[in-house]
Amino acid sequence: MAREKWGTKLGFMLAAMGSAVGLGNIWRFSFVAGENGGGAFLILYLAFVVLIGVPLLLTEVSIGRKAESDVVGSFKKLAPGTPWHLTGFFGIASAFLILSFYAVVAGWAIYYFWNYVNGSFFSQPEVGYDGAFGQFISHSWHPIGWTALFMILTIVIVLSGVKKGIEAANKIFMPLLAILLIVLAFFSLSLDGASEGMKFLFTPDWSALSNPSIYIAALGQAFFSLSLGMGAMLTYGSYLRKENKLPSATLGIGLMDTFFAIISGIVIFPAVFAFGIDPSSGPPLVFITLPTIFEQMPFGGIIGLVFFFALILASLSSSVSILEVPTAYFMRVFGWTRFATSVLMGSIMFVFGIAVSLGFGIWSGVTPIGDRNILDSMDYLASNIFLPLGGLSMALLVGWYMKKATALESADLSTSPIGSFWYGIIKFVAPILILLIFLNSSGLLQF
Ligand code: TRP
Repeated sequence: MAREKWGTKLGFMLAAMGSAVGLGNIWRFSFVAGENGGGAFLILYLAFVVLIGVPLLLTEVSIGRKAESDVVGSFKKLAPGTPWHLTGFFGIASAFLILSFYAVVAGWAIYYFWNYVNGSFFSQPEVGYDGAFGQFISHSWHPIGWTALFMILTIVIVLSGVKKGIEAANKIFMPLLAILLIVLAFFSLSLDGASEGMKFLFTPDWSALSNPSIYIAALGQAFFSLSLGMGAMLTYGSYLRKENKLPSATLGIGLMDTFFAIISGIVIFPAVFAFGIDPSSGPPLVFITLPTIFEQMPFGGIIGLVFFFALILASLSSSVSILEVPTAYFMRVFGWTRFATSVLMGSIMFVFGIAVSLGFGIWSGVTPIGDRNILDSMDYLASNIFLPLGGLSMALLVGWYMKKATALESADLSTSPIGSFWYGIIKFVAPILILLIFLNSSGLLQF
């Protein structure tokens, strides 16, 4: 059977941008930046996107396009007879960890959308938006129903084949989400006290850099937001035709993703300070802040409705890229159909998602890693450890195992002046930085 291919390069670009832009830019970026002091975190995050993220994105896509296989199979093909492919299982494992909580949070977004459809969030509920949100996520089965709905939507898109489902939706709703965020940013900036939020986000407090956890947090956010290190971009690259040129495509994806993160920050933080919300509220941060913004805006109810709809679609175009990773792998290895594989994988993730959801209610005392609840623990393990390890393995494969000429050729950089520059980053800069950050966060090395 011929491998499925994207219709056009634009199709790939839209799918890859759709994968990158999602809850990571709005929900995760805001709460991680808020927990890590704002400005200093933003600088580190941007530095990692430029120094590690975009070069690695090019590397990951080029591996997939060259090998034309899934995350494990690609390593097997390019480094036959070595244990390299075992690192692909970090990618499979992180797909399970990440989609299990991603679906829970996306379920919260659908619940919000519903509350704008029926009007109940047009004005502040009696217990306040934070009270209403707290009651909702701690309920034992309400949020799980919305998680199920989101997972079903994800599965349906993946089982009908990636390209049919998402190319079209991304063309309309990504620009819509961008426009909405820009409008919201202007509104947020007009609030009393907004400048405090801008200061928080854009004026680095350098003393924050002495805290080792900020480095790993910024690295994890760069990987998560760019969909890096799991093999999602690799798998998407494997559906690319050889004639599509990669460097400009990956740069475009990186820029687009960063734009969405920064503009989200400009929406959230001025409002956070104007409304007296604690920037380190963690995962609930945007779910408390956004409805408060909408309530103050003219036509806020309608804007909220459209915003959450666009956010759900952005989340779907990300979640399908995650589900596609284990689906592509298990289809190949066991010869199962796309239908059966995606339903099975999605169902397993949904079951994990139940645990994640209960972690905000009856299981809130369950803290697997440090003092982190179930969601935060799974996120920490996947985003801050597995994804960077997956990325490290890809960098080492291309930088040290492949011949330089092959590496440059597979990234479409053979004749480009930036070829050697990219190669130097992949061979030295990215691996060394990732290792240093790991050593630092484990306490073995203090910066
Ligand atoms: N990048 C997406 C977001 O920001 C989430 C995502 C999709 C992802 N595919 C991924 C994260 C692969 C890590 C790995 O919402």
